[in-house]
Amino acid sequence: MRHFTSVHDFSSIGDALSKAKYVKENPFADHELGKNKTLLLVFFNSSLRTRLSTQKAGLNLGMNVIVLDINQGAWKLETERGVVMDGDKSEHILEAIPVMGSYCDIIGVRSFARFENKADDYGEVILNQFIKYSGRPVFSMEAATGHPLQSFADLITIEEYKTKARPKVVMSWAPHPKALPQAVPNSFADWMNCTDYEFVITHPKGYELDSKFVRNAVVEYDQDKALAGADFVYAKNWAAFNDENYGKVLSKDMSWTITSEKMALTNKAYFMHCLPVRRNMIVSDDVIESERSLVIPEAANRVVSAQTVLKEILLSL
Ligand code: CP
Repeated sequence: MRHFTSVHDFSSIGDALSKAKYVKENPFADHELGKNKTLLLVFFNSSLRTRLSTQKAGLNLGMNVIVLDINQGAWKLETERGVVMDGDKSEHILEAIPVMGSYCDIIGVRSFARFENKADDYGEVILNQFIKYSGRPVFSMEAATGHPLQSFADLITIEEYKTKARPKVVMSWAPHPKALPQAVPNSFADWMNCTDYEFVITHPKGYELDSKFVRNAVVEYDQDKALAGADFVYAKNWAAFNDENYGKVLSKDMSWTITSEKMALTNKAYFMHCLPVRRNMIVSDDVIESERSLVIPEAANRVVSAQTVLKEILLSL
């Protein structure tokens, strides 16, 4: 594996899962693999889980780890070519990226959708510039359109908790006060579509996701119908994707919040969310605190997903 930006960088979902299982059972077996190799983690946006779990993954592999917060202590970066740089941005990303590449062996990048230009977001302009100009393997720590390390951890968690070969997994939109990118739901759909699970997406009209990620998933606009018989409920908010309303909040309908009444419609489903989560917007206190909540094991599996990916990249160097 040279770069990691989606599930499709693994040869198969079975391959990804068997590699993750080995890493989880043998977290320090490859401690020599990363010796004298430097991992650079570049954050254009805030993070708790990704920041800590990816550092831990690198340390487990014996790597040296550097973290750079672009918006705290680094020069402000211009990302557009052709701009007269007479404003507050002191450095161009076209110099900054190769310089970063010269200090490390592998680069992780977090760069969210900005909702300024849909073509730029869905063209993954920032992530692709790192791939093009850094000269290093690059992996996504959540880019504009995907969060594959999260979805990989979600899949590992479902595999650990499922009690039937083909569980029903329902991804439900839920309300949120701010406009959030589609990266997490896009990736979750992408990964679920590579399994043989029964996968259903439910959201209010107007929140349709990119068909490239939805593929053959069932889309059910009635949340109660979608939740019926679910084994896993994956809650997430996202802003509108369609051209007319791209990046807008169209609804804050609290009847979509995942409550114990909603969970009662399911097959004693496990509750999942990538975190951070807005309690009593996305999910009620009692559901997230219940013994069917998997939010902590999901977050813990972020080390496993990151370490599995880093190991594959290290093996390719
Ligand atoms: N789930 C996730 O990526 O969390 P952070 O934004 O805190 O990294």
